[in-house]
Amino acid sequence: PRVQPAGDLGNLGWDDLETRIRGCEGCVLCKRRKQAVPGVGDREADWLFVGEGPGAEEDERGEPFVGQAGRLLDTMLAAIDLRRGDDVYIANAVKCRPPNNRTPDAAELAACFPYLQRQIELVRPRLIVALGRPAAQALLNEEVRIAASRGKLFSYKGIPVVITYHPAYLLRNLADKAKAWEDLCFARARMAELRNA
Ligand code: URA
Repeated sequence: PRVQPAGDLGNLGWDDLETRIRGCEGCVLCKRRKQAVPGVGDREADWLFVGEGPGAEEDERGEPFVGQAGRLLDTMLAAIDLRRGDDVYIANAVKCRPPNNRTPDAAELAACFPYLQRQIELVRPRLIVALGRPAAQALLNEEVRIAASRGKLFSYKGIPVVITYHPAYLLRNLADKAKAWEDLCFARARMAELRNA
């Protein structure tokens, strides 16, 4: 495709940002998407959850985490008294569905990152939860192993980042669910500290 990188998104507001995302041709993922999936939720949320990229149902509906992994994400949110759309914003590291749900590669993550960056600037969350490796690597710009990163606080431009397993991974690895719940409690405790600071 004609490659038109996201480039400098300057001071774009939400409407212009979403228009840019929907029309993006910044990497090969635009070729096979049905639609780009910008994000969903409270645009002034304290919590930002970042996933990997849209799957088939998200590509169909234009909303992140509406398939099976999304139902588990909703359960994870409920475990710490959160609801989609209520003090939570949800976005993905890449906005277009990778073919057959393959993991987005480094070039795709980099091409799409300015959109996530601008979303973060607009939401100004107190805390970011990275769901899985691609999300964590996009935010931290370094190699990440989830098992080694759990229970630690990382930072994206001064915003604390907690890393945990992606819900799609948890659907295949039920034994790690308890660890993800621990991570959510860790995140909730950090949020309480941030609010009391
Ligand atoms: N997995 C993700 O990472 N994001 C979605 O939106 C759906 C599934």
